[in-house]
Amino acid sequence: MAYGHEVTDRPVATTLLGEAVVVWRTANGCAHAMRDLCIHRGTALSLGWVADDCLVCPYHAWRYDATGACVRIPQSAHTSIPAKARTPVYQCQERYGLIWVCLTDEAPAYALPEIPELESTDWKVVHTGPFDWQSDASRQVENFTDFGHFPWVHPGLLGDPDRPIVPDHAVDIRDHVLHYTIVRPEAPNSDDFPVFANAVTERPDRRSRYELHLPYTIVLRLGWGGTKGMVYFFASHPQKANRCRGYCVIGRNYDCDDPDSTLQAFERVIFGQDQRIVESQRPEQVPFDLADELHLRFDAVAVAYRRAMRTQQLG
Ligand code: FES
Ligand SMILES: [Fe+2]
Repeated sequence: MAYGHEVTDRPVATTLLGEAVVVWRTANGCAHAMRDLCIHRGTALSLGWVADDCLVCPYHAWRYDATGACVRIPQSAHTSIPAKARTPVYQCQERYGLIWVCLTDEAPAYALPEIPELESTDWKVVHTGPFDWQSDASRQVENFTDFGHFPWVHPGLLGDPDRPIVPDHAVDIRDHVLHYTIVRPEAPNSDDFPVFANAVTERPDRRSRYELHLPYTIVLRLGWGGTKGMVYFFASHPQKANRCRGYCVIGRNYDCDDPDSTLQAFERVIFGQDQRIVESQRPEQVPFDLADELHLRFDAVAVAYRRAMRTQQLG
């Protein structure tokens, strides 16, 4: 996957589950994804360029169209193009500012979450990151859902060390989605990053409604009891073993004229604080056997995540 705005008139290289993938656009704006490998000599097509709705290999300029077929071999004027001259194409769709790729030929196992706020003109949407971590996507996702660390890893920004108790919360697992809600202590809005809409009080609370869509996607809706709201859409892209990239798309229905850079800088700090912790975790992938690690009552989400990943045969 990639942020859509990163894919302009040049191809972009990415890696998904260890596969090299090139993402590019035809002139009608449609995004395409294919194996990032030229059948001729194995060159990365992402080093090439786009011409006449084809992706051109940088080595000998063979051209591939959006179906993956090689349609032009400049070196051979008279021989026809062999049927083998093609590269596999992958399913691809663009939504919420992200280009999503599915490597299999079958329909994607799960539909994308529905997030009407991110498609509404009443909400301001900001793309933050992406955040490249040397960890498994499961650890990056679990960190995003973890309540116990806020006062300690993000004091003054997301949590208050004087109020470390995690309120009880129940997790409802429906198919591949975990649903849970929590009202938890929050740090007062900071002067450096005035991004939240909590009331001016010494001890603000945050209402958070989560959907964790297995395996690596989260929709978090935040509020403070009034009409102001935020939605966080987080997807951890599993690049390869112990490498992931987090995309965090944030919508809000207030302060719509604020520059994107404020939220982007805020999330850079938050994700940076988390990164050094998560990259130190061993094993790098969440151990899905509940007998591993130690779970207490306030870790209800982590326990449910492990159970559901096992049930869905994802972990
Ligand atoms: S390696 Fe791609 S055209 Fe030769
Ligand atoms: Fe965190």
